[in-house]
Amino acid sequence: MENPNHGHQPVLLAETLDLLQIEASHTIVDCTAGRGGHAQAIGERLGTNGTLVCIDTDEKNLQYAKTRLHALPCRRRFFHADFGQLAEILEIADITGVNAVLADLGVSTNQLTTEHYGLSFSVDAPLDMRLNNQSGITAAQLVNHLSEKELADILYQNADERHSRRIARALVEGRKIQPIQTTGQLAKIVRNALGRAPHGAADAATRTFQALRMAVNHEMASLSSLLDAILQIRRPAMRAVVIGFHSGEDRVIKQAMRSWQQMGYGSALTKKPITPAHAELLANPRSRSAKLRAFEFGPQ
Ligand SMILES: C[S@@+](CC[C@H](N)C(=O)[O-])C[C@H]1O[C@@H](n2cnc3c(N)ncnc32)[C@H](O)[C@@H]1O
Repeated sequence: MENPNHGHQPVLLAETLDLLQIEASHTIVDCTAGRGGHAQAIGERLGTNGTLVCIDTDEKNLQYAKTRLHALPCRRRFFHADFGQLAEILEIADITGVNAVLADLGVSTNQLTTEHYGLSFSVDAPLDMRLNNQSGITAAQLVNHLSEKELADILYQNADERHSRRIARALVEGRKIQPIQTTGQLAKIVRNALGRAPHGAADAATRTFQALRMAVNHEMASLSSLLDAILQIRRPAMRAVVIGFHSGEDRVIKQAMRSWQQMGYGSALTKKPITPAHAELLANPRSRSAKLRAFEFGPQ
């Protein structure tokens, strides 16, 4: 039976809708359609002259969103692609006049909890981590083949892991005994290297999993390409709403919007990032690290 919450609860939904300023005839791009939560609410605000463009790198999530959104009255276009290619996607599909772009970064709850993605230390599964399983290299390939220094750099740069060297050493020692093929093996090596986290603290393997997922999916490079593409497709009054989930993402989003403003392209709509209100945190604890920033392009 279909999960009643569609496997993911959209974060900061009311705040996002408010900032997108949707009108019935608008063209809105959801760069991370996911399970279609934000897209459904956006589509409900578009009329028959409006267009909803949905992108996702995960074909299964995109397909889910497509099915969920089939009854909306607006035109709907779906693209299985990396959002870093936003400008090319729109050009090839001859979609012009975008009024707003949304990107809700990271992964959806169903991706975290479904075994085949291999994203979570709570589910023992093959160590894959690719959101697009049709291409790219897996986390198992990374942990078994990168040098100790390369692994330490990934952990430090992507997740600010203070114990990056110690973990990288343990991974290299561990793989000599047996190739690291599962999420369970990876989590055990990290926990053994660091000791179990104190009660109530995040699992010792949390940052390692985040850092490897980011490396496997080239998350920071895709985000930079997306921000470049948003600037490329800008038009007067176009809005961009971007939701990040960790400090690295938020830093890049903040810097991009600040430089757009300094170059005179428009104004940031959020001086500080918007974070979930208490009621949302209670209803959806997974929203706790969400940080939303928005920008409006001016006349040019
Ligand atoms: C947090 S979920 C979005 C959830 C969605 N807003 C909803 O309400 O259901 C993030 C989605 O972005 C997708 N994604 C992550 N990186 C991507 C990329 N570089 N290009 C396109 N989609 C990406 C993931 O596959 C996932 O479906």
